[in-house]
Amino acid sequence: MKNILLLAFSVLICLGKVSANEPDSAYIFAYATAKNNHTNGLHFAWSIDNRNWHAIGSEHSFLKSDYGRWGSQKKLFSPFLFQSADGMWHCIWSLNDTDGAFAHASSADLVYWGRQSYPVVLPDNNVLEPEIAYDRTSQNYVISWISNKSGDDRFYSVTTKDFKNYSEPKKIAGKPNNKQVALLNGNEETGTIRKVSREVVDKLIDAQKLTAYKYGQWAERAYLNPNELKEPVDISIRWMPEKEKSISDMLIGIFFEDINYAADGGLYAELIQNRDFEYNPDDKERKDPNWNGYKAWDVSDNTISFVIDSISPIHINNKNYAALNVKNIGSGLINEGWDGIALKQGEKYDFSVFARSSEMKKGKITVRLIGKNGEVYGEASTKVIAKDWKKYEVVITAGQTVRDARLVLLPQQTGRVDLDMISLFPQNTFKRRKNGLREDLAQTLADMKPRFVRFPGGCVAHGDGLKNIYRWENTIGEPEERKPQRNLWGYHQTAGLGYFEYFQFCEDIGAEPIPVVAAGVPCQNSAHHGCVIGGQQGGIPMNEMAEYVQSVLNLIEYANGDVKTEWGKKRAKAGHPNPFNLKYIGVGNEDLITAIFEERFTMIYNAIKEKYPEITVIGTTGPFCEGTDYVEGWDLATKLTIPMVDEHYYQSPGWFLNNQDYYDRYDRTKSKVYLGEYAAHIPGRHNNIETALCEALHMANVERNGDIVTMTSYAPLLAKEGYTQWNPDLIYFNNTEVKPTVGYYVQKLYGQHAGDAYIPASTHISDGRAEITKRIASSIVRDNTTGDVIIKLVNILPVHVKTKLDLSGITIADKSARLETLKGTLDDKDVVVKEDRIEVDSIFDYQMPPHSFSVIRIKTHK
Ligand code: AHR
Repeated sequence: MKNILLLAFSVLICLGKVSANEPDSAYIFAYATAKNNHTNGLHFAWSIDNRNWHAIGSEHSFLKSDYGRWGSQKKLFSPFLFQSADGMWHCIWSLNDTDGAFAHASSADLVYWGRQSYPVVLPDNNVLEPEIAYDRTSQNYVISWISNKSGDDRFYSVTTKDFKNYSEPKKIAGKPNNKQVALLNGNEETGTIRKVSREVVDKLIDAQKLTAYKYGQWAERAYLNPNELKEPVDISIRWMPEKEKSISDMLIGIFFEDINYAADGGLYAELIQNRDFEYNPDDKERKDPNWNGYKAWDVSDNTISFVIDSISPIHINNKNYAALNVKNIGSGLINEGWDGIALKQGEKYDFSVFARSSEMKKGKITVRLIGKNGEVYGEASTKVIAKDWKKYEVVITAGQTVRDARLVLLPQQTGRVDLDMISLFPQNTFKRRKNGLREDLAQTLADMKPRFVRFPGGCVAHGDGLKNIYRWENTIGEPEERKPQRNLWGYHQTAGLGYFEYFQFCEDIGAEPIPVVAAGVPCQNSAHHGCVIGGQQGGIPMNEMAEYVQSVLNLIEYANGDVKTEWGKKRAKAGHPNPFNLKYIGVGNEDLITAIFEERFTMIYNAIKEKYPEITVIGTTGPFCEGTDYVEGWDLATKLTIPMVDEHYYQSPGWFLNNQDYYDRYDRTKSKVYLGEYAAHIPGRHNNIETALCEALHMANVERNGDIVTMTSYAPLLAKEGYTQWNPDLIYFNNTEVKPTVGYYVQKLYGQHAGDAYIPASTHISDGRAEITKRIASSIVRDNTTGDVIIKLVNILPVHVKTKLDLSGITIADKSARLETLKGTLDDKDVVVKEDRIEVDSIFDYQMPPHSFSVIRIKTHK
């Protein structure tokens, strides 16, 4: 960051020198091209004579549209630039040729653009070629445009005084055309020309150069040619215990989102896929013809058939069930699990089903776990089924260890048999909880010693469109009463892993629960889903907001309320009369910070503050570590004095290497930071030693700033092989194996070796060149519970680094300290932590291996 500012400063000095012979004013040309499917945003060119134009950067974007879905939208057509009398610049543009809204953003300097808004002016038509003019008589801005959805060109206008409130649209005879054409690199582009002072042009050029410089830094990779290191690299680290400061003891946590089949088919131990027959073509936006209520189900032969029925279901939230027509006893309904059902020999499995039969002669249901060739691995029978819906439960013991069993239900009767909520759980879930979690996966998470769990998203929390906002109350109660829904990542969520299970898991692993609720707006990347506009779609209508706010308050009551309260009673009924001691709640997830957002967020925030002042509300600062949402999110946090904000950034190694002072520059008096999502990304989007060491480096810098950064969580956490929508992830898995990545070991080392005090150190590196020093990091913390001093050392150089550690004054209790190292070549993916001992003293030497992360834990006399 300092480097960037230095460069910016020198650029300005240079420009100062060359501008002596330039005119005081110049022209700018604002335009957009069709490149990248119209997603490259607003460009500028300059000219001193209004004829010869110079593009500022190649396709450099000064403003990008954030409207609607990633991929298919976020386009900026025909931008129009206008300066109001107060000097503010306004840019409006057309979003597409279908929606009856245009976009507006304003800027004081053409470089930083504020919040975007998408006023709906003509719901049934489109808005093309919008332009702004000022009517001096009425003192209104007049926005006019063409609409042609009905076939012919029609002209409309609205007026506004503030670009927030607009009049009703008025049909007009024609529209002014104040656009001009400029020749840029041989191409004719259409846009707006404005006369500006030379400084405006200089500032645009500086901004583009600064961006180009930053992109250059971010493109840097961790690799350094060993030949560039002529001498051995030495570092001396002298701790300064007199400068010790308190830091958060919650720095490492986990962020669980149901992405990549992390919940159903993943952490949630249910072995039956589509147990409720609720898979719906809409889950996949009707793009998969095989995705429906029949998914994962089959019949054994043609003497049995079934249809999905929904007349008198077991619960209104669970309307579909299988209506079997059994012609022959011995034929059955088969579930394939998630690519098979993994069984362990000797282990017991809880089977349950809701069944009914209207036939006179009713039978039991035989339940079998079978192999592809009919091998039987286990079997049990229910009681004779009744006329009305009833739950039947049996236990099956697996006779073999297999990865790909199937479940078959064989009604011992003919005729109609209705079945629903067909479920099979290993008894050996994590902590042996009913409706519980997969033991091996949950244990892998617990091993990180996470101090908190953020759930259920991510984008899943705010949802794809208003109807898809995750509503926590739909996920509690008996599994058959919960409301399954489309998962925004393109599959189905049963809600079997619901809020009760999340809270229970947190308690089981000693982590603070951090539920995240939508801030009254869905994901900014939402599709239209029947609404006039996409993206945040106007947010929850204001007349429904009171109900939504109450739902958030109910969540806190569910977690913490007395058993006599309405929602506390439900928690007690689920088996947990004691409160879950909820302390934090996230409101919003990397949202677009707009007026719509602010209004709703503030309502929720104020309501929580008033009713539950003891709860820490975590706000949001957008999806990136810079840009409009970041700035506006922080401004809002400061304005409302939100205690903590959630930051997200997925960055390249170059960003992590060159932004090590990122949090050093943060104002200590403002909101605390929860770094809720981050990861190092390289081309190909996989994790390896390079990404893991960049994350270790970042965490060393975070520990130093643990006075303001309270929590961090890598994202995403879990991914099922073959079902990933996002890479990289921290832990991959299949039905039988858990495959932690190298990045997981970094998180685990930080989690297991957390401290609550940071001890600054003075360091000296023998080779002071930036490319060397930025590849080495250290952090010393003290864990005041044990008295242990923990030293973390990151070496991203391709050579050993001889390290002298001076801990003068330390009172060592055991000179044989624990040493854990993660090392490899930069593209290694499969290395694990090596555990060792090291002799330590108040001054001692250690050799950091090339490309390594080392943790030394020293016991002291407290
Ligand atoms: O972690 C994956 C996604 O990244 C999250 O859902 C979202 O918050 C972010 O964009």
